[in-house]
Amino acid sequence: MKVLVIGSGGREHAIAWQCAQFDEVSHVFVAPGNAGTAQEKKISNISIAAEDITELIAFAKEELIDISIVGPEAPLVLGVVDDFKDAGLAIFGPSKKAAQLEGSKVFCKDFLDRNKIPTAYYKAFTQTIPAIDYVKEKGTPIVIKADGLAAGKGVVIAHSLKEASDAINDMLEGNRFGKAGSRVVIEEFLEGEEASFIVMVDGNNILPMATSQDHKARDNSDKGPNTGGMGAYSPAPVVSDLVYKNAMEKVIRPTVDAMKNEGAPYTGFLYAGLMIDQNEDVRVLEYNCRFGDPETQPIMMRLQSNLAKLCLLGANGSLANAAAEWDSRSSLGVVMAARGYPNAYQKGELITLPINSSSSKVFHSGTILDNEKLLSNRRRVLCATSLGKDLKDAQNRAYELVNKVRWDGSYFRTDIGFKGL
Ligand code: AMP
Ligand code: GLY
Repeated sequence: MKVLVIGSGGREHAIAWQCAQFDEVSHVFVAPGNAGTAQEKKISNISIAAEDITELIAFAKEELIDISIVGPEAPLVLGVVDDFKDAGLAIFGPSKKAAQLEGSKVFCKDFLDRNKIPTAYYKAFTQTIPAIDYVKEKGTPIVIKADGLAAGKGVVIAHSLKEASDAINDMLEGNRFGKAGSRVVIEEFLEGEEASFIVMVDGNNILPMATSQDHKARDNSDKGPNTGGMGAYSPAPVVSDLVYKNAMEKVIRPTVDAMKNEGAPYTGFLYAGLMIDQNEDVRVLEYNCRFGDPETQPIMMRLQSNLAKLCLLGANGSLANAAAEWDSRSSLGVVMAARGYPNAYQKGELITLPINSSSSKVFHSGTILDNEKLLSNRRRVLCATSLGKDLKDAQNRAYELVNKVRWDGSYFRTDIGFKGL
């Protein structure tokens, strides 16, 4: 089986690495990949951008790729899955229309609302004055979100009317997020604990992935600016049997059924960001139309079944009898970012990595090779991930791994996993 993984982050490194473990997989190509994927056995990078759909299709045809797996949201929202299918190629991911669950917050909220799937109350606005009036009516704290894709930065939790009006002005008038911010959603502030609930869907059948939780805030104790994620672990103790049942019965199943009934059957990874309340009830904070980053890294360390095969079953509508086997150990990943993240940061810094073992691995997110030298190249750069007999042990081992990385300009949290301990 030949596999093409589209993307270049830590998520894609972990997906490609997992697929390459299996004898049935002869080779994995990553477009465009990073220094981590470049150095793996049975994996090669190809220099095609994740959004260059025409070139990706030409490559998949020429190499006789059996299954393509899409990592990031941008090519999905552009319609990579529709175009691959039109070209007769197997690909695992949602159609352009189904990817709107992530691509447009207004689409997502309207969908949840009309299908009575639990979420925060909301209203969408294109004009500043009615938006600010709505905040006055509802009071603070309140949440302001840019409608379109904003790389995890389009959400402001406003604790005062001033913060709310600044955010609204910034998005609607200041053009802060360009077209993505020409419409805003204003919604209820939800309290509770968040979890990442990720499943595979084949249009109808659902195969849940292991549970996980990430830490979105940059600094220890979940303080500081929001980021794409500073670390994650699996399983997530907060997902009790009741939370799991509620998530499946009140959120995931109704979503998959409604997407089918509305003519946009959902195929691909579906990631519900859930807020869990004191009664273990759940509400949807957001949908992502892809696997999480960094959740993928600890989850892939635990997945014992062949992901490429599961994705092929998913693309063929055949997940009904599929099962995913999990390592019973816990797994935890610590993101190492460039200092300054999520603002201005340095690139091109020299990194020396420790040797990986069967239970510890440094996944690459933003690295390049320059004449054999490993250099930092983006904001989130590495994810040091370890298995352990329980969450505490996985945390200890992941930080042991972090401490063996030689990189002067790194920034990382020292408390990943605290929420689960
Ligand atoms: P989103 O991109 O919608 O996931 O939002 C990013 C982060 O903002 C979430 O992971 C939450 O931590 C926070 N957030 C988003 N919406 C809400 C809400 N309605 N209430 C409380 N926190 C929220
Ligand atoms: N870790 C959050 C995300 O992938 O959106």
